[in-house]
Amino acid sequence: MSKKPTSRQQDGVNKLWGGRFAGGPAEIMARINASIGFDQRLYAQDIAGSRAHCEMLIARGIISARDGAQILTGLDRILHEITEGKFTFSEALEDIHMNIEGRLAELIGPAAGRLHTARSRNDQVATSFRLWVRDAIDALRAALRDLQRALLIRANEHAATLMPGFTHLQSAQPVTFGHHLLAYVEMFGRDHARLTDARRRMNESPLGAAALAGTSFPIDRGMTAKALGFARPMRNSLDAVSDRDFALEFLSSCAIAATHLSRLAEEIVLWSSAQFGFITLTDAFSTGSSIMPQKRNPDAAELIRGKTGRVSGAFQALLMVMKGLPMTYSKDMQEDKEQVFDAADTMNLSIAAMTGMIRTMIIRNDAMLAAAGKGYSTATDLADWLVRELDIPFRQAHHITGEVVKRAEAKGASLDQLGLKELQAVEPRITEAARTVLSVQASVASRTSLGGTAPRRVRAAIAAARKVTG
Ligand code: ARG
Repeated sequence: MSKKPTSRQQDGVNKLWGGRFAGGPAEIMARINASIGFDQRLYAQDIAGSRAHCEMLIARGIISARDGAQILTGLDRILHEITEGKFTFSEALEDIHMNIEGRLAELIGPAAGRLHTARSRNDQVATSFRLWVRDAIDALRAALRDLQRALLIRANEHAATLMPGFTHLQSAQPVTFGHHLLAYVEMFGRDHARLTDARRRMNESPLGAAALAGTSFPIDRGMTAKALGFARPMRNSLDAVSDRDFALEFLSSCAIAATHLSRLAEEIVLWSSAQFGFITLTDAFSTGSSIMPQKRNPDAAELIRGKTGRVSGAFQALLMVMKGLPMTYSKDMQEDKEQVFDAADTMNLSIAAMTGMIRTMIIRNDAMLAAAGKGYSTATDLADWLVRELDIPFRQAHHITGEVVKRAEAKGASLDQLGLKELQAVEPRITEAARTVLSVQASVASRTSLGGTAPRRVRAAIAAARKVTG
């Protein structure tokens, strides 16, 4: 960013609002005040908002068609200059809105001054930022769908691959790996739905609220709303310029999605360890150690897990910015943008890295299967058999099975390695048939209830999810 004074700020007094000022700001004042260092990312949205506003001013006869045409041509040229990297941003002009208007004045002269008729930077920034967040929501929704599709591909490959299911990170009951991945498809589906919902609520236009009270000019807020793809104008001018719920909802949705990514990242870290050995990350998603030649580190997963903090932090930070603000706009609100930009960038990067890892990770079926049978994971199946076949109340069946587990533990055997005699020593009515429910395959195949882990349920769930994700 250029610090050189330009013709737009010769005497240090801001040309756009300096009428009552004799001198320019202190260097430190200019520095704390300026947002151009980050809000230049709003340039395309700001120009779109200005174009819509200008076209409305022409249509309503508030400015002449001639001035309006000059403004529109100038705005196009500025868009081109910025896109091509040929625009000089000025800190003295504070933000993207005044940088663009200042440049417009250089390009077309006094007609530029008519663009701000019936508008304020307050409704201008609210409009530009809303448009940016709307785009960010759409990008994130697309990225989440990509991730879901990657998970569904792997879930389909492993609809019948056995693995241990955990509670308390202790072996609980066997499940399929496909079923496990589908849990994340559900979580990311809710994240997508939250963003869709937030988008619907935020898609209203603040433009035309002007500084805070509306305007005396005969503007058409419906026209600008429509031109910018908003469903309608916001109803209350005070709310329109002071509301940042759209940014908060975006950040809260990001924070929840980041938490889901973090949980999956944590599982990847566990699964890829030598102790679990359930997956191997390919070279493309592993890093080495500078001292331990044997190491393959899951850095991307760790970083996704680690970045969750900054996304949650962004949500918290903006909540704190907003919590004490009286109606309507206060400059505190300029602090909204960096949090949202950083969260959006972080989410896009994290989701893309997660999608890459999911697509490429190598699944170690044998290690998963071996682990699935550990920890007496089919004990519940024996208890269920006692209930079903011997009509024993579940609590009692639970107790009997506990004794069977104790015996197995004493012998260092798994449940399906126990002979019928040993089972009958605990409960004489147990028959050979009980032993057939003790394998992990039988256990998983039996869990056919809605939402259960039986492979046929998993395959049906994948088909249903694909209808949504495309
Ligand atoms: N850069 C400012 C922001 O991001 C634009 C709005 C400034 N409005 C004002 N009245 N100073 O919030």
